[in-house]
Amino acid sequence: RIAGPSGLVIFGVTGDLSRKKLMPAVYDLANRGLLPPGFSLIGFARREWQDEDFAQEVHDAVKEHARTPFREEVWQQLSQGMRFVQGDFGDDEAFETLKSTMEELDKAQGTGGNFAFYLSVPPKFFPEVVQQLKKHGLADQRGDSWRRAVIEKPFGHDLASAQELNAIVHEVFKPDQVFRIDHYLGKETVQNILALRFANTLFEPIWNRSYVDHVQITMAEDIGIGGRAGYYDGIGAARDVIQNHLLQLLALTAMEEPASFDADALAAEKTKVLGAVKIPKDLSKGTVRGQYAAGWQGGEKVIGYLQEDGIDQQSKTDTFAAIKLEIDNRRWAGVPFYLRTGKRLGRRVTEIAVVFQRAPHSPFDHTATEELGQNALVIRVQPDEGVTMRFGSKVPGTSMEVRDVSMDFAYGESFTESSPEAYERLILDVLLGDSNLFPRTEEVELSWNILDPIEQHWDRNGKPAQYASGTWGPVEADEMLERDGRSWRRP
Ligand code: BG6
Repeated sequence: RIAGPSGLVIFGVTGDLSRKKLMPAVYDLANRGLLPPGFSLIGFARREWQDEDFAQEVHDAVKEHARTPFREEVWQQLSQGMRFVQGDFGDDEAFETLKSTMEELDKAQGTGGNFAFYLSVPPKFFPEVVQQLKKHGLADQRGDSWRRAVIEKPFGHDLASAQELNAIVHEVFKPDQVFRIDHYLGKETVQNILALRFANTLFEPIWNRSYVDHVQITMAEDIGIGGRAGYYDGIGAARDVIQNHLLQLLALTAMEEPASFDADALAAEKTKVLGAVKIPKDLSKGTVRGQYAAGWQGGEKVIGYLQEDGIDQQSKTDTFAAIKLEIDNRRWAGVPFYLRTGKRLGRRVTEIAVVFQRAPHSPFDHTATEELGQNALVIRVQPDEGVTMRFGSKVPGTSMEVRDVSMDFAYGESFTESSPEAYERLILDVLLGDSNLFPRTEEVELSWNILDPIEQHWDRNGKPAQYASGTWGPVEADEMLERDGRSWRRP
């Protein structure tokens, strides 16, 4: 799968995402031979840069963050198609310059009029950029050429604002021209959820309420908010990652088998399952939010959220959230899906644990088996990518003692192929016009529909519970599962 003649325009190219992820991903794709020879990259930003400054910036970003080794000949070829356009998003002249730069590159590099516009900008600028693209005729597709818009999250901060945003984008771009990035879908291990479930016979027969006791989806981070106060405060953990990453993981874990592996069929199943998600009736029992206080992490003392630069002392923003959801359909009725995420937790780990019911009866000596945990299948999304199965096994010796053991599949041991970075995969798919890994409007709106009442409940009810940095979140989160006779896994 190699992209055809094309180019990429990045708005907000001086930002962090562009430097750490987008520019290195473009280079890695070129280095792997997945971009066409005349591929072009245009940066658009306010900064007073010339083409050379931009190329230097890309060069530095690549040296610092690219996955693949630096090769001069790849760099030389790639840098021939690099241009910078300076301007404000409201600046008509800058958009005319962008237009003529794209035309120039069509001739010089052979991009064939095919361009993707990557909006790596704060959401408040989405409407303006999209309107400008329309006004200057940049969204028009002529003949066989294509134009696509790539939008970074957050897609709104609630259902109403997401609908508004979707309406603005779809005034200019048709649904098949819009690619919404949820970078979790670009991760190998996340794509593997469907392979695991639907390319095998082993799991699917027990993947339902008759065998599954509950599911835990954890996305834990050890980092704090770093320099992102401006973005994060007022948004919080649930809007930042549950609305998108965690609900996508839930959808992939719980959806029915799609009729085929194409974008429409996948979206249909994900939409169906997200539409069946039910939030707890009593939100004070079925949800918990927390905020990190000072504590210890990796042997170092770290400050609390309220002491971070740029954070309002009265801030009620959640840096931890845990939510209990159910799915009202025949497969999952009565099976809780517990989602949790947080900053400054014990360690960085994302995993999905499908926890099975206890054996209905044990013929073995009760005292020897009472410590036995429940069988579990754990999809380790990151960092230690793989799958673990936990089950009971006889302890070697003269008595019939049974103990938990685990069986592991690790990517590093089973495959020699390296995983592309999520953004590499997603940018390539945009250029190929393959939308399998991009959430659709309906998915985004259904996810807000789940989250909105929870956020409103939190707004009405006091402050988040404090938890010490380096721990696994507030005790209230443990209590939430204890009330159900369960407990969180310690990854
Ligand atoms: C982003 C969130 O979407 O995902 C960040 O905005 C978070 O707050 C990041 O740190 C985590 O991504 P990853 O790939 O490191 O798990």
